[in-house]
Amino acid sequence: MDSIQKFIKSDINELKKENLYRRLRIVENQRGSIIVDNRKIINFNSNDYLGLASDKEVIKNTLKKFHEISQCSSRLVGGNNTSILKLEEGLSKHRRTESSLVYTTGYSAVLGVISALADRNTTIFSDELNHASIIDGCRLSNAKVKIFRHNDLEHLLEKLKDTKGKNILVTEGIFSIEGDMSNLKSICNLAKQFGVFVIVDDAHGDFVFGKNGSGTPSQLNVNNLVDIHISSLSKGLGCFGGYVACSNLVREYLINKSKQFIFTSALPTHLCISALSAIGIAKNGILQKKLFTNVKMFHNGLRKLGFDIGNTCSQIIPIHIGSESIAIKFATALIKKGIFVHPMRFPTVKKGDALLRISLSASHRKEHLIYTLDELEHMGQKYKVI
Ligand SMILES: Cc1ncc(COP(=O)(O)O)c(C=O)c1O
Repeated sequence: MDSIQKFIKSDINELKKENLYRRLRIVENQRGSIIVDNRKIINFNSNDYLGLASDKEVIKNTLKKFHEISQCSSRLVGGNNTSILKLEEGLSKHRRTESSLVYTTGYSAVLGVISALADRNTTIFSDELNHASIIDGCRLSNAKVKIFRHNDLEHLLEKLKDTKGKNILVTEGIFSIEGDMSNLKSICNLAKQFGVFVIVDDAHGDFVFGKNGSGTPSQLNVNNLVDIHISSLSKGLGCFGGYVACSNLVREYLINKSKQFIFTSALPTHLCISALSAIGIAKNGILQKKLFTNVKMFHNGLRKLGFDIGNTCSQIIPIHIGSESIAIKFATALIKKGIFVHPMRFPTVKKGDALLRISLSASHRKEHLIYTLDELEHMGQKYKVI
């Protein structure tokens, strides 16, 4: 066995010993439901918050204009069809920015923006709970990274005091695991006092928070303080892809400098059509109301039962457990009861801070939520979580 294979084997054994080993589960998606082990189960693992991923109208509109799987080239080389440009127009209108730029995923959008704008002469101020894509973007940029405690203004101020050179602050809008909201108004105001450029990754607040889903900065009335919005099309919008909403100048720069934009194939046209169609539905605000009825009921139910769900204010609900092995057992037992919830473990969260992450959707039915709360109560008692 060569040294790399030896290393891989020993690392995998270590992951298994620490209950951190991950495996790919086979599922079958059927229009909003999910089949696991030949059984239809209630899915709390999808970020399809508005239930648009299986919307009949979106699918019909997409299929009507589905002529090609992919253009199989980058946008700079292979050209730009009208759908991708229309989608960008729709997205900048939605985020109320001058323009926007579509990437093939939210992950590459985050990497593409941070690594294009920051370099070794830049300092990035980053919330400690920021998503892996932000952490990787910071690393790739070679910038100096100053991590501030989650949503902690005093700590941020301490870090900002000796700012020099180019500075960027980056935070999520709605945090992807804890489901809480960034203290964005105060954070942006503080950053601006020090002349810091602000980037908000609003992957989980987009199309969910704000008037008609216009996003977290819009809900908090700080659009004028955010320099770049980054988001995913594969969460609230139920589609696929990522985008950046920004000024014309930033877009021009990214087209010329962002490697994750330049050196990859364009988002396929049919996915642009899906997104355009879904935006029309998401913007009427009806699905958000349905979602928040579910959110309120589930938050209240879980808190009443005594679960620790932290400071979530959103459709993302962490059930804090701690032990990795109990989180795995808990989630496995839930699957047997027809409830699909994932045990989040290191490196998604800190070691010893395992949790079950529940994603609520507008498409969850009330009876399913009541059944899930009942089962969570039984399991919570069995595993001494409540
Ligand atoms: C905060 C945040 N940013 C970016 C991404 C990446 O988005 P995508 O799934 O479109 O790559 C995610 C994905 O979960 C996320 O949670």
